[in-house]
Amino acid sequence: MSMKETLQQLRESSLGAITAAENIDALEALRVKYLGKKGELTTILKQMGALSAEDRPIVGQLANEVRETLTYNIEQRRKTLSEKLLEMRLSSETLDITMPGKPVEIGKKHPLNTVLDEAKDIFISMGFTIAEGPEVELSIYNFDKLNTQEGHPARDRQDTFYFTDDDSLLLRTQTSPVQVRVMETQPLPIRIISPGRVYRKDEVDATHSPMFHQIEGLVVDRGITMGDLKGTLNTLVRQLYGENTVTRFRPHHFPFTEPSCEVDVQCFECGGRGCRVCKGEGWIELLGAGMVHPKVLEGCGIDSSVYSGFAFGIGLERMAMRRFNISDLRLIYENDVRFLSQF
Ligand code: DAH
Repeated sequence: MSMKETLQQLRESSLGAITAAENIDALEALRVKYLGKKGELTTILKQMGALSAEDRPIVGQLANEVRETLTYNIEQRRKTLSEKLLEMRLSSETLDITMPGKPVEIGKKHPLNTVLDEAKDIFISMGFTIAEGPEVELSIYNFDKLNTQEGHPARDRQDTFYFTDDDSLLLRTQTSPVQVRVMETQPLPIRIISPGRVYRKDEVDATHSPMFHQIEGLVVDRGITMGDLKGTLNTLVRQLYGENTVTRFRPHHFPFTEPSCEVDVQCFECGGRGCRVCKGEGWIELLGAGMVHPKVLEGCGIDSSVYSGFAFGIGLERMAMRRFNISDLRLIYENDVRFLSQF
C-alpha cells in the first residue's frame, strides 16, 4: 500500500471511530492513538523521508489535511459529548417544579369535637361562656353539694371510681359539680356551659363506656323559669338537628333539680311512629335538666328567694351518635382513621 493510500485509509477508519466514541475518555484515547507522539499519523509522517522529491509535497499536504480533519472532528465530537454530559447532569439534577409533592396526611377533626364545637357555637351565640372543673373531684362537690347525700345509689362503690378509703375523692361521675364550683366563685348572673370527661364503673358495650363526655349547662339569675330552660334547649336542638325537630319534656327525678325533666327528640328515622333506631319508642332521650334545687343554690350562698336557675346535662357521645348515625359507641374511641375520616 502506498503512503497516500495508508493516509486515506487512516482518515476513513479514524473518522468512523471518532463518531462512535461514547465518552470523553474514549475520545481522548483515540486522539492519542492517531495524533499522539507515537500515534499512527506521526508514525506515517516519520516515513516521509523515504519518499521521492515529487511525492513528498503531495503526501505532506495530504498528511496535513488528514491531521486537520482529525483534529477538527475530535474537537467537534468533544463538544457534542460534553454538551450531552451537561444535558444529562442538568436533567438528573434539576428540580422539576411541575412534579406533584408528597401528600401530607392531615388528620380529621374527631366527630366528638365536631359536635362539641357546634354546641359551643350555639351556646356562645346565646351569651354563655365556657367553664372548667377538675376530673379528679371531691365527693362533696360531686354529690353532697348537689343534694345527693350518703346512701344515694350513685355513690355506690360499684358505680364510682374512688381514690381514697373514705370515699372523699373520686373521678367525677358527672359534670354537675362544675355548677357548684361556678356558683361558689362567679358573680351573678351566671350563664355557663362546661364540657368535659366523666367516669363511671360501666362495662364497655355498644352504648356504654367507663369514660364519656358531658356538657353541663347552668343559668342563674332573677326570674329564671322553666320557660327559659325550654327555649334554650329547643334552640340548641333545632340548630343542631334542624328547624323542624320536635322535642318532648318528660318529668323525671334528679336530686339537684326540682322540678326535673328529661328531654327527648322525636325519632329522626321514623318521625315518631316507632322503629329500630328509637327501639319502638318514637323518641330518643337526649339530656337531663331541671330548675336548680333551692338547697343547691343556698348551699352555694345564693338567696333562692331572689334567684332561680336552670341546669342541664347532655351526653356528648349520644349527640355525636345521633348526629352522624353511629351505631356503636366503641367506634368513637378506637381512633381508626378509616372510621374517623368519614365525618
Ligand atoms: N348529671 C346528670 C347525669 O349525669 C345529668 C343532669 C341532669 C345534669 C339534670 C343536670 C341536670 O344539670 O339539671 O345523669
